[in-house]
Amino acid sequence: MPIALITGASTGIGRELALLCARNGSDVVLVARSRPMLDSLAAEIKRGTKQSATVFECDLAEPDAAYPLFDRVSGAGIAIDTLINNAGFGLLGHLWELDAKRQSQMVQLNVGALTDLTRLFLPAMIARRSGRILNIASTAAFQPGPLMAVYYATKAYVVSFSEAVHNEAKEFGVTVTCLCPGATKTEFAERAQMTSTKLFSSGMVMSASEVAAIGSAR
Ligand SMILES: NC(=O)c1ccc[n+]([C@@H]2O[C@H](COP(=O)([O-])OP(=O)(O)OC[C@H]3O[C@@H](n4cnc5c(N)ncnc54)[C@H](OP(=O)(O)O)[C@@H]3O)[C@@H](O)[C@H]2O)c1
Repeated sequence: MPIALITGASTGIGRELALLCARNGSDVVLVARSRPMLDSLAAEIKRGTKQSATVFECDLAEPDAAYPLFDRVSGAGIAIDTLINNAGFGLLGHLWELDAKRQSQMVQLNVGALTDLTRLFLPAMIARRSGRILNIASTAAFQPGPLMAVYYATKAYVVSFSEAVHNEAKEFGVTVTCLCPGATKTEFAERAQMTSTKLFSSGMVMSASEVAAIGSAR
C-alpha cells in the first residue's frame, strides 16, 4: 500500500490533500501541531476509506524539527512514497514592524522544514526508483511582495528548489512538483491577518478542495 506524508494536514489545503490521498488508495501520515484536529481527520479517513492514518504531532517551525520527525516515522517502520510539504503561513506588514521571531519561524517552516524533509525522505525514494514530492508554493512565488516580503520570498525559494531537485531526481523515477495556489479559502488569511485585503475579499477565492484536486493531478 503506498503511503503519503502530509505536513499541515490538520486544516485547509493539507487536510483536503490528505483526504484525496486516502480516497485514491494511499495510507496517510498526518503531521501538524493540532493533535485533536489530526486525530479527528484520522478517524474520518479510517471510517470513510480502507486506508490507515497515522498521526505525528510536530511543530515544524522549531529549528531542525524535521530530523526527529523523520526518526519517528522511520522508527515506526513507515516508508514514505509521497511527501507533501504543505505546512506554511504568511504575515502581512512592514518588514521592520512584524514580529522578528514569527518571521524567523515562517522561514523555518516554509523553507527550512520543507528542505530538510525533502532531503531526508528523498534517498529512500531514489533507492526504490519511485516516489513523489509535492511542495506547496503560491502564486506569490512569481513576484516580490511588498508588505509580505518574507512570505513571497519563501515561496520563490520553494519553486526554485523544487524545479532544481526535480531535475536531479527525475532520472531516478522520482518527481518533485510544485502547487502554486492563488487566494484560497482556509485559515491562512486569518492567520496572516489579511482577511480584509482586496486579494481575499474579491470573490476570486478558490476552495481548499478545488486547490487540492489540482495539486493531486500529476
Ligand atoms: N490559503 C491561501 O490563500 C494560500 C495561497 C497560496 C499558498 N498557500 C499555501 O498553502 C499551504 C497551506 O495553507 P492553507 O491555506 O491550507 O492554510 P491553513 O488553513 O492556515 O493551514 C496551514 C496548515 O499548516 C500547519 N502549520 C502551521 N504552522 C505549523 C507548524 N509550526 N508546524 C507544523 N504545521 C504547521 C497548520 O496546522 P497546525 O496549526 O495544527 O500546526 C495547518 O494544518 C501553505 O504553505 C500556504 O502558504 C495558501
